[in-house]
Amino acid sequence: MGNCVTEQHSDKDDVSVITKTHFKFKYVIGKGGFGKVWKVQQKKTDGYFAMKVMLKSRILAKRSVSSVMNERNLLAKLKHSFLVNMHFAFQDRENLFVILDHLDGGDMRYHISWKKKFTEEQTKFFMSNIIIALEYIHNLGVVHRDIKPENLVFDSNGYMRIIDFGIARVLTQENHKDTSGTPGYMAPEVMCRQNHGISVDYFALGVIAFECMFGKRPYYGKNRKAIRDHILSKQVKIKRQDIPKGWSIEAADFINKLIQRKPVNRLGLSGPKELISHPWFADFDWEAVKSKRAISPFVPPQNKDNFDTKYANEPWKDEDSDLMKKQNELVKQAHIQALFEGYYYTRLSEYSSAVSIIRSEIPARKRKKNRNNALSLSTYGSNLNTKEA
Ligand SMILES: Nc1ncnc2c1ncn2[C@@H]1O[C@H](COP(=O)(O)OP(=O)(O)OP(=O)(O)O)[C@@H](O)[C@H]1O
Ligand SMILES: [Mg+2]
Repeated sequence: MGNCVTEQHSDKDDVSVITKTHFKFKYVIGKGGFGKVWKVQQKKTDGYFAMKVMLKSRILAKRSVSSVMNERNLLAKLKHSFLVNMHFAFQDRENLFVILDHLDGGDMRYHISWKKKFTEEQTKFFMSNIIIALEYIHNLGVVHRDIKPENLVFDSNGYMRIIDFGIARVLTQENHKDTSGTPGYMAPEVMCRQNHGISVDYFALGVIAFECMFGKRPYYGKNRKAIRDHILSKQVKIKRQDIPKGWSIEAADFINKLIQRKPVNRLGLSGPKELISHPWFADFDWEAVKSKRAISPFVPPQNKDNFDTKYANEPWKDEDSDLMKKQNELVKQAHIQALFEGYYYTRLSEYSSAVSIIRSEIPARKRKKNRNNALSLSTYGSNLNTKEA
């Protein structure tokens, strides 16, 4: 998948370039750890995007500055049709803003909550979408580390993309201290604070496939400790007699090989090719899926909100807490603002279309004179002002 990873971008925090005023806020579509996710419309182009808004004071309260800066830096390097791509990132005094591809099919958690289980055909299709995305990031040495239904979003045709790179990392040998993730989907080596590799994402994939098959996860519990105890107590295995009607033995084998507690026994240890060549995918038309020509066996309900509006609009419980009041004061200080330096981002493609919009607005004679200037701009810098947004 020859996608570009060396795309040029601007690191300038020039808030005069793009701000939230360049977007019309439609409605809240999701709730993240630090703020809401909005459906927005870019005023200049009428294009729809998702805007993830993150309150700086909440980021500070949760000691997560490095996590949000990390997400912005990784998203700047990634671009793929099975990921939710970043278009812009900017900030004001109180908030960070990320402008992402907007998908309106809802996240997988929402669909699990009303559908509970999926068919084998649907599950295989979901797995293929996630494998394509993981193959891309893993080949770049990036491990997502938080693959779970909340972080898999559908488009209206039923194709799935990965979101949320908050705890993703470029792989290093010594990463046993990186323990975050979500219990239930977290591989045991992460839970037990051991060094880990790309196969943690394949463990999560197995858990999701198991959940599609049975409507519950293989390792469960009321809290983190209970889940940990469960996972450490025994290796779950789907036995032949447990396979639900309509499911094949190959599907069960694929899932069994992914939910292996020991990474050395897990499918995908040496890369995604192991998953792609598993017998469950024999005769599977990968090219039709990669090019999105294949028809998805699961199409999210159309003409309705595919998210829980009550949950998405729920206020934060910490709103009036002393900790938040303290962080709100801290955010006003220059040395705290400096922590978010370098957050600004725009894709070169947006810059290019800004150039073409500007070019079409300038008379031909002047255009020639200005040409060298305009084309030598390496960033979405001050000369372009607010034209594009
Ligand atoms: N691009 C998008 N299109 C549609 N819905 C989205 C999009 N991005 C996020 N959402 C919705 O908003 C929810 C929260 O987003 P996200 O996972 O990025 O936040 P988060 O879990 O708090 O991440 P982080 O921990 O990095 O802040 C998602 O589970 C999803 O339902
Ligand atoms: Mg998330």
